[in-house]
Amino acid sequence: VTPNDPAASTWRDLRSRVERSLAEAGISSPSAEARWILAEAWDQDGAIEGADDVIATGRALASVEEMLERRLGGEPLQYVLRGWSFRDLDLFVDPRVLIPRPETEITAQVAIDEAVKRGARSGPRDAWTGTEASFAVADLGTGSGAIALSLVTELADAEVWATDASAGALAVARANIAGTGSAAARVRVVQGDWFGALPEALRGNLRVVVSNPPYISESEIDDLAPEVAHHEPRGALVSGPTGLEAIERIVADSVTWLEADGALVLELAPHQADAARALARGAGFASVRIVPDLAGRDRVLVAEGPRAA
Ligand SMILES: C[S@@+](CC[C@H](N)C(=O)[O-])C[C@H]1O[C@@H](n2cnc3c(N)ncnc32)[C@H](O)[C@@H]1O
Repeated sequence: VTPNDPAASTWRDLRSRVERSLAEAGISSPSAEARWILAEAWDQDGAIEGADDVIATGRALASVEEMLERRLGGEPLQYVLRGWSFRDLDLFVDPRVLIPRPETEITAQVAIDEAVKRGARSGPRDAWTGTEASFAVADLGTGSGAIALSLVTELADAEVWATDASAGALAVARANIAGTGSAAARVRVVQGDWFGALPEALRGNLRVVVSNPPYISESEIDDLAPEVAHHEPRGALVSGPTGLEAIERIVADSVTWLEADGALVLELAPHQADAARALARGAGFASVRIVPDLAGRDRVLVAEGPRAA
């Protein structure tokens, strides 16, 4: 496409066209989504953001068309863009993993706070005075690696075991780990069923266990937005007939895998808070509380001291 070509399209034209198509398809934030899609094509094209009067190259046009078509077909924007931000991270995501949610940023923060309370140093590692990683944490069901990578980048001496049952999810996690720099050397990736993925030597030695497990019941899947139900991995969403199956297993097994005064940090659905509290008390944790998300809904179980004196 050249400036004299009647089919030539400036980035401004392109943005209005994408925005119009998204609005006509009933997408709720067409202007913001159009900007995200164009920004992604801009990145690929190496052009300068804000260059409204610049003629888009054929390559950029094709890339915008491809993303628009997928979005109009109902794919979540994050998969279309092949990336999303989580805390300070810019993560690669595709349909093998759950799209990291804002409430999980709270779950990660709670896990970081619990680690710091137990002596972990917050902040990135100082390259000159860094000590050996000595603070064992497990992120069970790591998906994209969102929580595990937040922990190693925000805690100087954490060594994080990132597990998942899904090989596809772990391939995405590994890609994100590879893009994270030196902190990534402190993440170990292992495949398996919850604690069954971990080496036996870790039993009783984890200071913090964090997980955002699947917590939707089989009957609730039909109530989810089609964008979620039809595109995100079922194994990341659905736990079983009650929705509590994964939470029950992780609470029960964490008792022997945590240090005596370690902490379990578990994301849940607000209506599961009472049941999760009762499970943790019944399992023998000395202190159990629920932390709300930004919308004020019960969201994160914190259970401390599984075998505290
Ligand atoms: C709700 S997603 C959370 C992903 C990521 N931690 C996040 O917060 O964005 C749950 C993850 O648990 C994994 N998972 C499901 N069943 C599992 C099991 N039995 N053992 C280990 N991981 C499992 C899924 O593959 C999925 O990646």
